[in-house]
Amino acid sequence: MVILGIESSCDETGVALVRAQASEVPTLLAQALHSQVEMHSAYGGVVPELASRDHIRRVLPLTRQVLIEAGTTLEEIDVVAYTRGPGLAGALLVGAGVACALAAALDKPALGVHHLEGHLLSPFLSADPPCFPFIALLVSGGHTQLMRVDDVGRYALLGETIDDAAGEAFDKTAKMMGLPYPGGPALARMAAFGDAAAFDLPRPLMHSGNLDFSFSGLKTAVMTQLRKRGTNVCEQDKANLAAATQAAIVDVLVHKSLAALRASGLTRLVVAGGVGANRHLREQLDARCAMAGARVHYPELALCTDNGAMIALAAAMRLQRGRAEINREYAFDVLPRWPLASV
Ligand code: KG4
Ligand code: ZN
Repeated sequence: MVILGIESSCDETGVALVRAQASEVPTLLAQALHSQVEMHSAYGGVVPELASRDHIRRVLPLTRQVLIEAGTTLEEIDVVAYTRGPGLAGALLVGAGVACALAAALDKPALGVHHLEGHLLSPFLSADPPCFPFIALLVSGGHTQLMRVDDVGRYALLGETIDDAAGEAFDKTAKMMGLPYPGGPALARMAAFGDAAAFDLPRPLMHSGNLDFSFSGLKTAVMTQLRKRGTNVCEQDKANLAAATQAAIVDVLVHKSLAALRASGLTRLVVAGGVGANRHLREQLDARCAMAGARVHYPELALCTDNGAMIALAAAMRLQRGRAEINREYAFDVLPRWPLASV
């Protein structure tokens, strides 16, 4: 079975082909991605209307590209999968519309996929895939969640952010420091030159006794430090503040992930979503989980941020288990707000 996956929920157009055989872990045949980062950077963040228009321009050329790379044809596709939500409504509509039109033209089923399910299953395409059950730490630009994952489609939410997501905390504090969009990678690069101990920043909800997160207070603390220094803030101060901010976010994520492992008795942690690319987070999680006798699984770096491969993969894994909502009518909707636990 060959599955085409189309991702267009935010500022990346991703297309990929995955092959699924019997009950084996599906394999990636080809993938192509266009990031809109450069286009949005002039505005300091994603402009939804520009995002939708760019997805329209990119999606078919990217589809042709993956077909060529995989040495396959449209007729060999068995299922067309797309991101149904959550995400930007207009952006989602582009992927959903193209996927359903393509599926109708090919007389093959279409399948809407949850974006976070894609992130969560993406480590199955890595050289070191996990086994079920595991705890998943989902850390993207829009979500920060801890889930218990017993199988595909069996997700229990253990805790989530009550305000900003971890990626948002990276992006917003980076913006305050005058760093370019997207702030996460820029702040991480700057942090490498700083001393995290130079600033004492709060670790919100670290000892709340539950698995929820909060990052908006941290943002305010960073703002207060910047205001205190006014125009005198030098590059070293900024690097120190970047390192302290990263350390505060990572400390909370690591602390709560370990608490979730302890509470569940599980020994496998899967980290997914854009912030999962953060090196400091990976080092801290690896060290602390090793001490606790747990293993950490990550997606390949290229599959940490949004991509089509994770969408094709999630569709493939659902189809293998007979848990897919196949669409043969080709009428479609998108779900900009869609809790993963309800899938
Ligand atoms: O999963 P993703 O690509 O898109 C969403 O679904 O949101 O995540 C994007 C988020 C952004 O907030 C970005 O700043 C953050 O992931 N990010 C990082 C790093 N790379 C991406 N944050 C910290 N360190 C990184 N290396
Ligand atoms: Zn994402």
